Amino acid sequence: MEIKQLIAEAIKEAIDKAYPGVDTGLDYEALLEVPPDSKMGDFAFPCFRLSKSLRMGPPMIAGKLCENFDKPALCSAQAVGGYLNFFLNRENFARDTLQAVMAAPEKWGGGKDGEGKTVCLDYSSINIAKRFHIGHLSTTMIGNSLRRIYDFLGWKTVSINHLGDWGTQFGKMICAYKKWGVKEEVEKGGVDEMTRLYVKFHEEAKENPALEDEGRAWFKKIEDGDEEALEVFNWFKEVTLRDAMKVYDTLGVSFDSYAGESFYMDKMGRVIDELNEKGLLVDSDGAKVVDLEAYKMPPIIIIKSDGATIYATRDLAAMLYRKDTYNFDKCLYVVAYQQDLHFRQCFKTIELMGHEWYKDLEHVSFGMVSYEGQTLSTREGRVVYLEDLLNRAQEKALDIIKDKSPNLENKEDVARQVGIGAVVYSTLQNNRIKDIDFWWDRALNFEGDTGPYVQYTYARCCSVMRKAGDMTAAPDYSALCDDEAQYILRLLTRFPEDVRAACKTNEPFMITRAVTDIAKAYNKFYYEHRILDGEEGEKAARVLLTDAVRHVIKTGLFLIGMEAPERM
Ligand code: ARG
Repeated sequence: MEIKQLIAEAIKEAIDKAYPGVDTGLDYEALLEVPPDSKMGDFAFPCFRLSKSLRMGPPMIAGKLCENFDKPALCSAQAVGGYLNFFLNRENFARDTLQAVMAAPEKWGGGKDGEGKTVCLDYSSINIAKRFHIGHLSTTMIGNSLRRIYDFLGWKTVSINHLGDWGTQFGKMICAYKKWGVKEEVEKGGVDEMTRLYVKFHEEAKENPALEDEGRAWFKKIEDGDEEALEVFNWFKEVTLRDAMKVYDTLGVSFDSYAGESFYMDKMGRVIDELNEKGLLVDSDGAKVVDLEAYKMPPIIIIKSDGATIYATRDLAAMLYRKDTYNFDKCLYVVAYQQDLHFRQCFKTIELMGHEWYKDLEHVSFGMVSYEGQTLSTREGRVVYLEDLLNRAQEKALDIIKDKSPNLENKEDVARQVGIGAVVYSTLQNNRIKDIDFWWDRALNFEGDTGPYVQYTYARCCSVMRKAGDMTAAPDYSALCDDEAQYILRLLTRFPEDVRAACKTNEPFMITRAVTDIAKAYNKFYYEHRILDGEEGEKAARVLLTDAVRHVIKTGLFLIGMEAPERM
């Protein structure tokens, strides 16, 4: 349990003893403060808000509570003015914390909170025949991190790549391929070659409008399950995914399902029937829509006037399918904020259909990514492909490592971990909704709030452990009573709460922040204390603290999707 919670409980006991039968209705933990100077105590409890219910001045209350406070193993108390100041029993705190962490160091922060519950996570969800660009980086890394966080807390997770593999453009692409395409070129050029064919289609169609009809006819063939059409279509998918897989492997990202939009082709009838049955489908200029005016939203189109279904129809079908198939307790959509209205419309429609589980659907939205101060725009040709970005990250990291650690053995591998880590860290550094501006200098800096900085601290811990070798002496916890060690310990006890908060709000940055704080605290400790000096017992205690920090940083990095190199 977090130390603040323990003190809050002790305060409650003291109040119950001093003022039997009185309920102040206050949250003592929330009231606890950390004094600006640790000489005034590790924590302070202001008694001002108690005056009313206890009918006494704050200094009197502080005095009375102090008399009734009896938790020597936890801390001692001192009344000063209207405050009750607490001095932790630092040695006990160090022992309790380290014993708790080291009992199962890889699991510290994890748990069984989600046991028996299932969460579906829809993330990355790239589009077929389009290059994987950095616009898809946030969804990929936020989703990947959330999946790890939920896993760590005992949920059953189902990760879904809802591929964008449906639309009339695929008919045109097949048409173009049949006319001008060469198999080997597509195999070799991948998405770029598909794009070339698609662009050519549009150029030619300007001269020869009949092509549009041919394109439509090919799309109809895919819809009707025509063998020839499906063969090309599925092959386009394969080629796109083959490239995407390289990126996913580099990032350590994987999925349980690649059921994309086309998967719901034969599952939309059910949505339409159900909407009809429930009287929700209305005509609007030949289209079928669900009216959402009462909820201050534009209508959601289910069938267009030409009879075609749309993105939203497939998402509704996917929602019903996922509920049936996985019986989720939560279904998350990690998608940019631009699709906010789309998801609000879909969720509302599920609600109107009478499905109580609409409450379990959640849009986990996030802001935009720009690159070195420039917004990205496909139309204006300002795109950054993820593959290029990741390659450059590794190259740049390699340069830095060659410069900083010329003797390091596996430089390439470390450069991969650090380069990718730098990118991932930048993506998960702030609140999801904040826009991200990616700068190389910032991301790859070894100082400050960066991925390399945290990884470097991990490597530093590993190095201390190697130098320490086998420690046989029993740890003397009195060596961990200084402010620096105590601050680390406090962060370690808070880590499980941080993981839960990240899960509750679907905010991976809470973990990024937690590991960064731990790394900073450890470095401060490292500079101000000689870890491997002194008596054996003292040394053993500081090494044990280092070991705990090492494990928790590794866990934290893993949870945000980063690797932890042992040497850097
Ligand atoms: N493919 C879409 C895009 O790139 C994202 C799909 C998100 N998931 C969903 N179920 N709608 O914008």
